[in-house]
Amino acid sequence: EIINWSIEDAEKSGYPHFMLKEIFEQPRALDSTLHSLLSRNDMDFDFERVTIVACGTSYHAGLVGKYLIEELLQIPVDVYYASEYRYRPDVVEDSLAIFITQSGETADTIAAARKAKVSGNETLAITNVVGSSITSYVDRVLYTNAGPEIGVAATKTFTAQLLALEYFAIRAGESMGKLSVSQVRNFINSLRKIPLYVENTLNLNDIIEKEAKKIYKNKDMFFIGRSMNYPIALEGALKMKEISYIHAEGYPAGELKHGPLALIEEGIPVIALVPEDITYDKMLSNIKEVSARNAYVIGVSSNMDVGKYVDTLIKVPETELYLSPFVNVVVLQLLAYHAARLLGRDIDKPRNLAKSVTVE
Ligand code: AGP
Repeated sequence: EIINWSIEDAEKSGYPHFMLKEIFEQPRALDSTLHSLLSRNDMDFDFERVTIVACGTSYHAGLVGKYLIEELLQIPVDVYYASEYRYRPDVVEDSLAIFITQSGETADTIAAARKAKVSGNETLAITNVVGSSITSYVDRVLYTNAGPEIGVAATKTFTAQLLALEYFAIRAGESMGKLSVSQVRNFINSLRKIPLYVENTLNLNDIIEKEAKKIYKNKDMFFIGRSMNYPIALEGALKMKEISYIHAEGYPAGELKHGPLALIEEGIPVIALVPEDITYDKMLSNIKEVSARNAYVIGVSSNMDVGKYVDTLIKVPETELYLSPFVNVVVLQLLAYHAARLLGRDIDKPRNLAKSVTVE
């Protein structure tokens, strides 16, 4: 009997697309990223400011990193798109510049790293590819150990970047005396639970697919969140645009009434991220604003009560503070994946896009 399998099919290990395979690989990818980070004994840092530079999904990881670092270290963090960083004047400051790039080959991010070095910054890269170009332009490297990512849409490398940033913030906090020994121990212990939280979120796949069936025919949709989940809303919208070609906007929920609320009309999907943190009550108010205009609201929350305010609740696992982005983004990755599949899109190779952008 002839087995009619291409090498590509074999590499997908039974999944219809690399993207789905990579989404489901996340618990393992996160586990191995954490292990490699825990084995580092060179995590001493001393800086007064942080600048984070990246593109696309890596930029969204950087925005989550800003909230984390500002929260844990109480120092200011600026986040730039790499393509914009070049227009910044050469301000010399006692800053650590962090470059986040899955591939390590993104031309704008590499150009930004060179510029940061010239301005006298200490530089650190977070990348998934050992020996990639970015590593030769920076002082230090943190590797995400997520394994190769084939799908153009970044998934497992994004959550691995979030984990690397969490770990970095904790260790920097420790070495700079901003976190106590017991705080460090508690934070690290909670990081160990992330693979399980993600695994439990993946069990929601069927529920998420059902939701995708309800919304994939829409032309527009909104993703809203606040604080650390604002960048997750941006990332959910980027995933949706990139692979389904549906127009999607990510917004900090509080900004809706400053313009985009005018676009909310009957049936438009609004995906609202409602973690049980300081943003909870304000998110419920934002949900009421869009429900009053008859939007179709999907709530993503660990709190069942949110069900009273939304059309559908996707109930995610409860996590420690600062870890909700990990579970929320997995829901949004799957939602985008299923919408794109229902629309018959070329999921692993969306039109007009390349896995790594090596031109400036
Ligand atoms: C993510 O789904 C995109 N394909 C894209 O935004 C990507 O994250 C961006 O091009 C940055 O790539 P890098 O992390 O390899 O630098």
